[in-house]
Amino acid sequence: MALVTTTEMFKKAYEGGYAVGAFNVNNMEIVQAITEAADELRSPIILQCSAGARKYAKHSYLVHLVQAAIEETNIPIALHLDHGADFEICKQCIDGGFTSVMIDGSHLPYEENIELSKRVADYAHERGCVVEGELGTLAGIEDDVVVEAGHESYTQPEQVEDFVKRTGVDSLAIAIGTSHGAFKFKPGQKPQLRFDILDEVSKRLPGFPIVLHGASSVLPNYVDIINANGGAMKDAIGIPEDMLRQAARSAVCKINIDSDLRLGLTAGIREHMFAHPDHFDPRQYLTTGRAYCKEVVAHKIKTVLGSEGKA
Ligand code: G3H
Ligand code: 13P
Ligand code: ZN
Repeated sequence: MALVTTTEMFKKAYEGGYAVGAFNVNNMEIVQAITEAADELRSPIILQCSAGARKYAKHSYLVHLVQAAIEETNIPIALHLDHGADFEICKQCIDGGFTSVMIDGSHLPYEENIELSKRVADYAHERGCVVEGELGTLAGIEDDVVVEAGHESYTQPEQVEDFVKRTGVDSLAIAIGTSHGAFKFKPGQKPQLRFDILDEVSKRLPGFPIVLHGASSVLPNYVDIINANGGAMKDAIGIPEDMLRQAARSAVCKINIDSDLRLGLTAGIREHMFAHPDHFDPRQYLTTGRAYCKEVVAHKIKTVLGSEGKA
């Protein structure tokens, strides 16, 4: 199947009460894990690349890996830029084969966020690409930007109509208490999401696709495998899956997952290397890593996203 934009995916997801998983890709094994799981479960999928991924793997390798996944599978796949920080990186991705970009002006003053997001949306739309904007800031780490817990800010629902109207973005990421990385809550802290903000945003933007970043659950079984095999991720805590499922049933059409993929891959590699300290062929330990990563994606599609059979 060809590379698609998210327009049709989000329309169906909104109407069908499910969300499409947006999984971060950095190498071949991760692309294979995601797309094989999605193909077997007949789920649409978004493969997203951060600036860090483009630095690590190079734009052209990533685009060609995704192209290979399209040839190997029969599901709709969108290729998305995650957290585009400025016009230039968005332009490079729009011109370079991506079907969707995120312009993340969430750290800018409101009017500057509007100006930048509109510039990207105008450029993208003329070229058949779609755009995700963001209002509100999440805690955690994205590339080199670190937002300390307590310095995040929830999305203000009274801004969303104005923002969407003036920028022309096609979807909107909002901050309701999710955060990036594997340490989202302190031990003993009760995970909470502001569903009241999500409800208010959806009322103000009927039919409009909402995006959740920082939505890994930090799956405890993989954290346990890592810790049992020499790792030190004792206090890793994520978003409870029932909360994400509730969000996926609502206006949330895209749920971003990266940390859980990293945990799956790392758990597989650690487990393999601990059991076989003499192994040094990457194909051996990456096979286990890729299998766990694939297991993570299948679990997300079935348990959190509800996108099984929607391809
Ligand atoms: O939002 C951040 C994503 O997890 C991407 O992480 O910038 O380290 O590639 P990265
Ligand atoms: P996690 O760190 O929770 O996986 O979030 C990933 C993300 O939001 C990518 O943009
Ligand atoms: Zn994010």
